[in-house]
Amino acid sequence: MAFLSAAVTLAAAVLANAESTFSPARPPALPLAVRSPYLNTNQAAGSDGGNGGYLAGEWPSFWNGAITGWTGFIRVDNTTYTWMGSPLPLPQVVDQTSYEYTSTRSTFELQAGPVTMDVIFLSPVTPDDLTAQSFPITFVSVAVSSSDGGEHDVQLYTDVSAEWASGDRSKVAQWEYGTTESNVAYHKFWRQDQEEFIEDNQQAAWGFWYYATADGEGLTHQSGADTDVRDQFTSNGLLENTEDTNYRAINDAYPVFGFAKDLGSVGSDSVETVFTINIAQDNTVQYRDGNGVESIPSYWTNTYQDYESALDSFYGQYQDVSSQTADLDSRVASDSTAAGGDDYLTLTSLAVRQAWAALAVSGTPDEPLIFLKEISSNGDIQTVDVIFPTFPIILYFNPDWLKLLLDPIVRYQETGLFTQGAFALHDLGVFPKATEAGPEQQPVEECGNMIIMALAYAQRTGDTGYLTEHYNLLNQYTGYLVNDSLYPDNQISTDDFAGSLANQTNLALKGMIGIKAMSMIAQMTGNADDSSNYANIAESYIAQWQDLGIAQDANPPHTTLSYGDNSSHGLLYNLYSDALLETHLVPTSVYEMQSNFYPTVANKYGVPLDTRHGYTKNDWEMFCAAIAAPDTQALFISDIADFINQTPSNGPVTDLSETDTADYANGIRFMARPVVGGWFSLLALNQTGIPEGNTS
Ligand SMILES: *[C@@H]1O[C@H](CO)[C@@H](O)[C@H](O)[C@H]1NC(C)=O
Ligand SMILES: *[C@@H]1O[C@H](CO)[C@@H](O)[C@H](O)[C@H]1NC(C)=O
Ligand SMILES: *[C@@H]1O[C@H](CO)[C@@H](O)[C@H](O)[C@H]1NC(C)=O
Ligand SMILES: *[C@@H]1O[C@H](CO)[C@@H](O)[C@H](O)[C@H]1NC(C)=O
Ligand SMILES: *[C@@H]1O[C@H](CO)[C@@H](O)[C@H](O)[C@H]1NC(C)=O
Repeated sequence: MAFLSAAVTLAAAVLANAESTFSPARPPALPLAVRSPYLNTNQAAGSDGGNGGYLAGEWPSFWNGAITGWTGFIRVDNTTYTWMGSPLPLPQVVDQTSYEYTSTRSTFELQAGPVTMDVIFLSPVTPDDLTAQSFPITFVSVAVSSSDGGEHDVQLYTDVSAEWASGDRSKVAQWEYGTTESNVAYHKFWRQDQEEFIEDNQQAAWGFWYYATADGEGLTHQSGADTDVRDQFTSNGLLENTEDTNYRAINDAYPVFGFAKDLGSVGSDSVETVFTINIAQDNTVQYRDGNGVESIPSYWTNTYQDYESALDSFYGQYQDVSSQTADLDSRVASDSTAAGGDDYLTLTSLAVRQAWAALAVSGTPDEPLIFLKEISSNGDIQTVDVIFPTFPIILYFNPDWLKLLLDPIVRYQETGLFTQGAFALHDLGVFPKATEAGPEQQPVEECGNMIIMALAYAQRTGDTGYLTEHYNLLNQYTGYLVNDSLYPDNQISTDDFAGSLANQTNLALKGMIGIKAMSMIAQMTGNADDSSNYANIAESYIAQWQDLGIAQDANPPHTTLSYGDNSSHGLLYNLYSDALLETHLVPTSVYEMQSNFYPTVANKYGVPLDTRHGYTKNDWEMFCAAIAAPDTQALFISDIADFINQTPSNGPVTDLSETDTADYANGIRFMARPVVGGWFSLLALNQTGIPEGNTS
């Protein structure tokens, strides 16, 4: 059977005789509906299992590769074409002529015989609107026009399968059909046995899915076995307006939920139909603080009483959302090209949906909270050293929201629930349960991260009250850094997969910048004695660090991976915080030295993370790029743009890849992680390149 389906796929590829262009790049997976940890569907493209970036002839899939059935047919003068998915038997596929992505959109241009289709998958990002950001919905606009001057008889079809409702395909799905007050027609489907705060293979085991479109003339619908519903359309060009009420397992005669729209006679004026897919969950996560374990509501539930009124409202906002997100796309485009050129826009515009989709915007107007899922690495929630590499994109779009990410962590630790030590915790558990800090410990890393992010938040928002409120906790972290950042004990850094080590040069630097940042926090909050004490300690440490951590006699000189190991090196990405916070701790000569060094150890797809392995982390590369001289910065950026275009990996972009092959690092399939938010490193700085006047 596997052989047969391979043959069918090959036939499909042969039928698609046009070659698509890809702009600004052909990413390893094309984002389709990427809004949240659970609404996260892409089209695999990379050569290691993907089809090269075509919407038809392959199933869309959840970030982990599980198929989320999504089909599109178009019937033109009685001939049916497939424009999305890989149903069997497969009607001939459309010719895809172009694919383009911007920050919030994936746009395909498809040719179905004599008609052209413009299909836009819009996954909004609304960083000034908690309610909109909290409602995971993706819009699909399908615009059809005649391309040969004639009029053509056109019917459009699409369905989704119950595979969206659970990652365990043996679970029973249930469904119903309805219309909202403003006539939005919807298929609602869900895992019959709802298990809140449980995942089946990373997909939610609770919540209600909606596939919707405007009701009206020419719209028909049907639920039923995949082959029945699709045959009905391909044979007749419309559906039966019937419901299959034999609720059954997702993989038992796969139930699908279809719409057909008769567009009538289509000429050169394009006719647009808008579909939406969304998941509605009353609560996003469980969270434990001093009051015990609570269920935290999805933020949109503060505004909408029920799922259908929310759907009704969001569907109706399509035009507004479309123009707001077009503005956001343009802003990212102009800022990115100004800061780092076209290649830089290739990175930033791919990062936006992926980063924001790891967030669950939750809570109440009095107490909004944002939870973050690591996604692929191990699904941890609120991981401090995952928030940290992500945070440049938060600073760029809305620094106020950084507090909402830090609040669950500081509140947990301030209530005394963290008993492992005086250092900052690593995570709050495994998404969607933020109920117990996990056992992993990265003491210097996380203490430094918390202090650096708290100061960045206050600098950008002016909220020094936040620093006063949490002064004791931040001071406690600083005590840990004073003890352990000059000679960090043997421990893991955020790059835990690379192994543990004592005296890590880059980790020590983070601790020292953290101490200097605390000196600034003390200054801002009227704690003058602490301020001068910490400033003195940080200055003393950084002077010693330059002797301990720099291989002066190397050619060219560079910092080491660990003290005294002069043949070792690594990305000195923690230097970024010195520039970001304007701590003025590290001399400009260190920036220049590293900027001169990196090109001497660059491989085809980047500079290795350190001398232990051939792989790199592209979030950290961009932290280094942001504070490098123009040539070195351009080298980092173009190597990552090449990686995006050429990687054989086929999941949503990985942040960890081999520098010689651009493939996943051996055995570690990081993908879809929010840390690509770190690609906004240039835009989060006030000015890019080596900062002027850092002397000590
Ligand atoms: C499509 O099929 C119908 C029914 O068989 C027929 O009446 C109609 O003329 C056909 N249209 C075209 C454009 O071939
Ligand atoms: C730092 O070290 C001192 C001396 O050993 C100890 O008393 C103190 O508790 C340590 N502070 C932290 C935060 O670990
Ligand atoms: C850390 O570096 C210092 C200075 O080189 C050295 O004395 C100490 O032994 C190192 N620690 C470890 C655990 O290697
Ligand atoms: C490493 O280099 C430093 C100065 O560049 C030198 O003082 C030190 O002795 C070297 N260490 C080793 C083990 O060669
Ligand atoms: C960056 O620029 C803004 C606006 O000019 C300024 O308010 C801020 O203090 C600067 N520094 C940082 C770290 O944001």
